[in-house]
Amino acid sequence: MTRADLVVVGSGLYGLTVAERAADRGLDVLVLERRDHIGGNAWSEVEPETGIEVHRYGAHLFHTSNARVWEYVNRFTAFTDYVHRVWTVHRGEVFPMPINLGTLNQFFRSAHGPDAARTLVAQQAAELVGEPRNLEEKAVSLIGRPLYEAFVRGYTAKQWQTDPTELPAEVITRLPVRFTYDNRYFSDTWEGLPVDGYAAWLTRMAEHPRIEVRLDTDVLDRGHDLHRDRLVGQVPLVVTAPVDRWFDDSHGRLGWRTLDFQQEVLPVGDHQGTAVLNEADESVPWTRVLEFRHFHPERTHYPSDRTVVVREHSRFAGPGDEPYYPVAAPADRERLAGYRELAALERGLGVHFGGRLGTYKYLDMHMAIASALTFVDNELDDLLAGRPVGA
Ligand code: FDA
Repeated sequence: MTRADLVVVGSGLYGLTVAERAADRGLDVLVLERRDHIGGNAWSEVEPETGIEVHRYGAHLFHTSNARVWEYVNRFTAFTDYVHRVWTVHRGEVFPMPINLGTLNQFFRSAHGPDAARTLVAQQAAELVGEPRNLEEKAVSLIGRPLYEAFVRGYTAKQWQTDPTELPAEVITRLPVRFTYDNRYFSDTWEGLPVDGYAAWLTRMAEHPRIEVRLDTDVLDRGHDLHRDRLVGQVPLVVTAPVDRWFDDSHGRLGWRTLDFQQEVLPVGDHQGTAVLNEADESVPWTRVLEFRHFHPERTHYPSDRTVVVREHSRFAGPGDEPYYPVAAPADRERLAGYRELAALERGLGVHFGGRLGTYKYLDMHMAIASALTFVDNELDDLLAGRPVGA
């Protein structure tokens, strides 16, 4: 492709959706990707020793209640009937998550029905009077102290490397407790995993003849001939790179948490009997163990004598780390306001920021896709014509 009508920076689900929809409308789209593969954090690969599909950037479970998104993704892949369920280990005992009637009755050694359990939790949550001053108080006000101490305290402390009494109450708005035995993790209308894997799904999205992808292309690398400064103002741009880095961290770095993945092939057919086992206690340094074979029980070619497990450790991201979850502390929110002002100015030069890095928001896959479809519906024409939004 010698010329492009639109350049998309980043080939995650936001960038790929914009690229695919724009190409379908007859535009020539150039996608520039820093990594050596497309697909962003949803990418998966096959572990060579076992043939087991591993999600390279952490477990990705697709779920949505958005009919348009469901119809759209099904153009590129079919989905299995996998239903996600999670268990957690606390003091050597395994409990179902999210907290439900099964968890409550196991934990309190009781046989309560829904009403009795609701009353019990409400009584325990009434311990706290007044506005919660920190995450611990907020959690206690929602589910009571015993459940908080068992299932929230240690896990949260590990996730944030911070004692919950020192975390702001706003980090949680709700802690779901189900007064039924329903232990489905998601309550969306549709869920499942791509039948032949994430890599195959994402690759199909990029296969449109009007899309050209260039890998190993970091547009913030000054040495590159496709550097940001050579693109802005020359061609309409959709940017899913981190908004702070795009503006040379001029308002300071936005805070992210990252994950370290400790991957191992074990010489057993089944290590833990399920895909995700959380570790609620602080005495265990990792937050959860993923066993990837369980995401695809229908795959008969997986070996019966080996399995792949990944232990996840959570920490604050340093400059060279992958940014995974926005910290969104008050200082971050102030910085973000500054970047939003810069982004609004850049819009006048034909640049649109989208996706989780471009907007500094945690987005599930269906949210990234929905937001990209809405952008194409409502704003792409203006961007291409060099008009301000909605003019
Ligand atoms: P994404 O980060 O995927 O893509 C951005 C792309 O831009 C990347 O490929 C990056 O390399 C590229 N890029 C960045 N800077 C660049 C530069 N300077 N030049 C060129 N390219 C650049 N969702 C869900 O629905 N179910 C789930 O179970 C999970 N699980 C999950 C686990 C973990 C650990 C994380 C971090 C996230 C999830 N998600 C999820 C969320 C899911 O990953 C998310 O919805 C998508 O990644 C969003 O796609 P984006 O395109 O916005 O970003």
